Amino acid sequence: MSMLGLLATMKLGEATSGGGFWMPESASTVAPEVDSVFYFINNINYFFFALCMVILIWFAFRYHAKPSEHATFAADAPTHNTPLELTWTVVPLLLVGVIFWLGMDGYLELNESPEDAYEVQVTGQKWSWTFQHPEFGVTEAAELTVPLNKPVRLIMTSSDVLHSLFIPAFRVKNDVVPGRYTSLWFEANKPGQYRLYCAEYCGKDHSKMLAVVNVLPEDEFQTRLGKLAREYEDIDDRDLPAYGLTRLYNRCASCHSLDGSSGTGPSFKGLWDRTRKGTTVFTNGQDLKDLAGPGGEFEVPENYLRDSILNPQRHIVQNYTGSMPTFKGQLKERQIDALVLMIKNLDRLVDEQGVPIENPDLEGADISTGAGQ
Ligand code: CUA
Repeated sequence: MSMLGLLATMKLGEATSGGGFWMPESASTVAPEVDSVFYFINNINYFFFALCMVILIWFAFRYHAKPSEHATFAADAPTHNTPLELTWTVVPLLLVGVIFWLGMDGYLELNESPEDAYEVQVTGQKWSWTFQHPEFGVTEAAELTVPLNKPVRLIMTSSDVLHSLFIPAFRVKNDVVPGRYTSLWFEANKPGQYRLYCAEYCGKDHSKMLAVVNVLPEDEFQTRLGKLAREYEDIDDRDLPAYGLTRLYNRCASCHSLDGSSGTGPSFKGLWDRTRKGTTVFTNGQDLKDLAGPGGEFEVPENYLRDSILNPQRHIVQNYTGSMPTFKGQLKERQIDALVLMIKNLDRLVDEQGVPIENPDLEGADISTGAGQ
């Protein structure tokens, strides 16, 4: 067996599908190939590291100067050795050539998605992910549901700065760029839940820009997406506040806390009180009170919440920088209602620490969204 063949097959710390010492678990069709290139390069490193160390230590003993000796240069000492120099030039050249070829081959495969791939539109924004399924008219946030054993193509863009979508278990990563579409594809071959990261430093809460990839067998996938497509229409008015918390709040969570702590945006705790009483102060010194009431910009307080979701730059709350993107077009009318009702009834949905209460009591809750008043 040639040395190259030996290096390629020798997988120290081999990654099984359960993961290994160097690699996380693998769950896509391209993962074995990506891993084999990694182990190939890694094993070359092990080999040459060991070789250099052995020669270094051997030379240190073989040629070390005794205390009585002085450094001298023999006139007939060799100045060069052509076969040796050719060896240490040609061998690395061949190795990097092989590495380039393996890398290029894998790169092209990762960039050419199969024609029949299932498409998902991805939007990255500070600091969350939105996944749209055009086939079902469904928008997911912080969770991406995909079918098992079927190629999936992500068409990605950013609504603000550079992000990068990275799913370690699938061994795929690509930049998400404002004003441009990038794509990547994968075929998950193991059902389960996998981490999705933002892998490009994009600001304060970059480390919170996470999502879960949920790989489901084809029939379960169809059922789940079908259910998601109908969920906010089927839902009873009375269940809208809880729906807002469990299904929509994850898109607000990186900036708006539920426990009163200040984030990139104001906490949702006490927000309804501040809104109802008009005590919120804006950066221009104006009070919400001044804009509320009959004839004012916000006839009913609910409209201020709705407007803050759709036109977040219109009124910036004092002590905040106004970095919220608009959710116009991203939320259905009924989903905006759900968020407004969630904020109105937050006291019933979460406890003092902002932890969601199981089976919250919404008996007698105010589920008016202010529409038609
Ligand atoms: Cu988005 Cu880091």
